Amino acid sequence: MDGNGRWAERRKRPRIIGHRAGARAVNVCIDFCLEQGIEALTLFAFSSENWGRPDEEVGALMKLFVNALEREVEELHRRGVRVRFIGERDRFQDAIVARMTAAETQTRANTRLTLVIAASYGGRQDIAQAARALAVDVAAGRLRPEDIDEGAVAARMALADLPEPDLFIRTGGDHRVSNFLLWQLAYTELWFTETLWPELDAATLRRALEDYARRERRFGLTGAQVTPPSNRNDA
Ligand code: IPE
Ligand code: MG
Repeated sequence: MDGNGRWAERRKRPRIIGHRAGARAVNVCIDFCLEQGIEALTLFAFSSENWGRPDEEVGALMKLFVNALEREVEELHRRGVRVRFIGERDRFQDAIVARMTAAETQTRANTRLTLVIAASYGGRQDIAQAARALAVDVAAGRLRPEDIDEGAVAARMALADLPEPDLFIRTGGDHRVSNFLLWQLAYTELWFTETLWPELDAATLRRALEDYARRERRFGLTGAQVTPPSNRNDA
């Protein structure tokens, strides 16, 4: 979710106004996913690096985060959304952690959409914590080093129990992953738009899905292997 600050700066408003507008766009995105029957949505709300922003901005973001939790969780629950958080939870204030945990507990049995909020999340930190978990298991004698394979790593990463992400969308015009789900994005289709996050609308999301539908996902195989010749456009 990128471009909140620039959205505000273009309007000669403080950056926090952009974050507030960005919170509205989150609802647009969730509504779209529910409408389309999308199974899982992970939003990169706050990176481990975002703590380094000016105190005033971090403080305002925390306030927005708490308000959103207070305001939205009940309605999300009513709509069948399972809410989860990934990232370094213990870096947040106790009151925020308590709300995060309460939201997860309240919505844990919902099945319509899994909404994952990445908060104080970093892809490298995710990989490092998986490595640490492997080391703990080896040290405890539960795991042999020679049994460490991709599956063993994957099982210890965030989102382990969800399908691999099919589509990555970045708003705001920059073409980078910025330490989002590094491991999980190995074969994800990447889609970028100049649209700033607060301006996100259903039409933009529809365009992303249409582009996605036209792509051929080969997972390292040949085109003929993944699509029988009779179904190929160029056949
Ligand atoms: C993304 O918008 C939201 C958060 C990181 C919380 P930015 O704040 O990065 O917006 P720009 O990139 O400055 O426009
Ligand atoms: Mg940015």
